[in-house]
Amino acid sequence: MIATGTRLNTRLMSVETYKRAAAARAIDFVRSGMRIGLGTGSTAQHFVDLLGERVRTGLDVVAVPTSEATRAQAERLGIALTTLDETPELDLTVDGADEIAPDLTLIKGGGGALLREKMVASVSAEMIVIADETKWVATLGRFPLPVEIVPFGTTATRRAVERAAADTACPGPALLRTGRDGHPFVTDGGHWLLDAQLQRIDDPQALATRLSAIPGVMEHGLFIGLARTVILAGPDGVRLIERL
Ligand code: A5P
Repeated sequence: MIATGTRLNTRLMSVETYKRAAAARAIDFVRSGMRIGLGTGSTAQHFVDLLGERVRTGLDVVAVPTSEATRAQAERLGIALTTLDETPELDLTVDGADEIAPDLTLIKGGGGALLREKMVASVSAEMIVIADETKWVATLGRFPLPVEIVPFGTTATRRAVERAAADTACPGPALLRTGRDGHPFVTDGGHWLLDAQLQRIDDPQALATRLSAIPGVMEHGLFIGLARTVILAGPDGVRLIERL
């Protein structure tokens, strides 16, 4: 009999294998001379790792990291870095996602880097999302929607976020994200995060429009019209899904 812990470890190992397989496929899209946006999270980490291997064997790229964690990893691997100020247009961004809908609308920000991730993706000629197939959903919303807010007047902002969700037919509480120490989680930009527990977002565009209009909201984790290609990996292999 296999112990539950062993079974769990085997499943986690498979998920990591799928993430790496998706990342490896994304490497095929990288060409020398490209300006590349580097995503954040455990899947993007595989991509950065593999990119580092290619750089060691002569691939010549320059990259903009979407978080301090990714910057540190890329620096360790010897990947040449630039900033969005120096390089305001990019050829390709490769990033993970928390949920992916069939129209390639995404929820991102589980790792807390959504603001820089969205800025970097939006100036990239192409965004490729890499994921294991558990991220593919029929409708967004089971994963709590991260909303980055300024740490001033957070009660008013939280209420406004909840009102926006209720008015766009996806009511639910927006909870302040905290770290292990119980203090608010602080993003790389010095902001806080709300995680909106909405369960089902039938009209992401309507919700995105309402959230963007709230003064205390810096950015939200709905990525609409940004991903052109998704690379999904699972037990049946790796598949490429293109936005129509
Ligand atoms: C980071 O802020 C996120 O947007 C990540 O891209 C997303 O949470 C996916 O992370 P994993 O690859 O770790 O699941």
